Amino acid sequence: AGTVTRNEDGVVSVGGIEVTRLAEEFGTPAYFLDEADFRARCRAWAAAFGKDADVFYAGKAFLSRAIVRWLKEEGLNLDVCSGGELATALAAGMPAERIAFHGNNKSVEEIERAVEAGVGRIVLDSFQEIVRVAHIAQRAGKRQRVQIRVTVGVEAHTHEFIATAHEDQKFGIALAGGQAAEAVRRALKLDGLELIGIHSHIGSQIFDMAGFEVSARRVVQLLAEVRDEHGVELPEIDLGGGLGIAYTSEDDPREPHEIAKSLTEIVTRECEAAGLRPPRISVEPGRAIVGPTAFTLYEVGTVKPLEGLRTYVSVDGGMSDNIRTALYDAEYSVALVSRTSEAAPMLSRVVGKHCESGDIVVKDAFLPADLAPGDLIAVPATGAYCRSMASNYNHALRPPVVAVADGEARVIVRRETEEDLLRLDVG
Ligand code: LLP
Repeated sequence: AGTVTRNEDGVVSVGGIEVTRLAEEFGTPAYFLDEADFRARCRAWAAAFGKDADVFYAGKAFLSRAIVRWLKEEGLNLDVCSGGELATALAAGMPAERIAFHGNNKSVEEIERAVEAGVGRIVLDSFQEIVRVAHIAQRAGKRQRVQIRVTVGVEAHTHEFIATAHEDQKFGIALAGGQAAEAVRRALKLDGLELIGIHSHIGSQIFDMAGFEVSARRVVQLLAEVRDEHGVELPEIDLGGGLGIAYTSEDDPREPHEIAKSLTEIVTRECEAAGLRPPRISVEPGRAIVGPTAFTLYEVGTVKPLEGLRTYVSVDGGMSDNIRTALYDAEYSVALVSRTSEAAPMLSRVVGKHCESGDIVVKDAFLPADLAPGDLIAVPATGAYCRSMASNYNHALRPPVVAVADGEARVIVRRETEEDLLRLDVG
């Protein structure tokens, strides 16, 4: 993260506070989030896209009331994808018109709440939902601003993309076979809807701009078809999130300004060719904003060398606070942060305390051979999809999120307690 430093004794500080002090005060495992870094990333995205575009932070990466307040202060909008995220956004005072509501299976109650609150846009994900949202809005005496989410036939992977005729997945409405054009036709006819644009999201942890460019081009082609058929120029397009971050030194992420430049250029060029007024662009980065801003601090417990294989380093958390390694085979790095060590590097695997062998946090890493119980180790880049995907597996207590800024640390999501677990268990 931005304000992480290491002194000559090897002790790491974040936001001006030593991790050893943080561990004493807040315990381990815990996520420490660098507020200045978070805000700087928000500003970098907002500046890169400028006044003629909108940045929606994807709350699924990590959402809390403090996050919502910071987003609000930094001028960002918010993408939510569930009633729970919507409730958090509204509770923390995000103006409803700055909220986009996503999801492939929004419930009637969720749609009603979103319409009632007056969210800026609902992203329609199916033919059924077009009708459902229209009815709910009409019943409420409103005209709901909506986008239609299309699948552009680009399947994005980390370093490559492959174009497919039909994407075999649950989101959106396919451009292929004229389905998206049919969705537009239906949406334009319904009084309860104000169709403001087309939405496309191609994947996550992407480094290659090529997939975004294909996606932008195809979305603009649809705008041209809509203009030709209906005489309507839809004013907005959203190109989704998905920008990758560096989890290890091998990852080489794109910067917000590169992304903004590339997307704006391609949309402008395609619109010129089609004789369209360029639409307002929006994007939905989640991981790229919050991912690098936090690290997880663990205390080392059992250290078990396996002759000829590697050393298993057990920590006081695991797959309940970071499921990504087990779920996606994700790569992370790790460092000893409570002291320096001159000891030789040993091949290590950082594992949790859960009752299964797949409970791995860092698959392969070098840690000093004198690593011992009580040492503190940190896993960087855990701000996205770690606390938000945390579980109570084995009745683990989900760790707190502590925001650090200007030499002060403040709990923004507190550690779960056994009382919290038992409160839900009413039987
Ligand atoms: N917009 C939409 C419509 C999305 O579905 C997503 C992510 C985003 C934006 C934000 O994508 P980001 O910029 O954060 O990549 N749990 C997985 C990632 C799932 C992403 C789901 N959708 C992981 O831990 O890698």
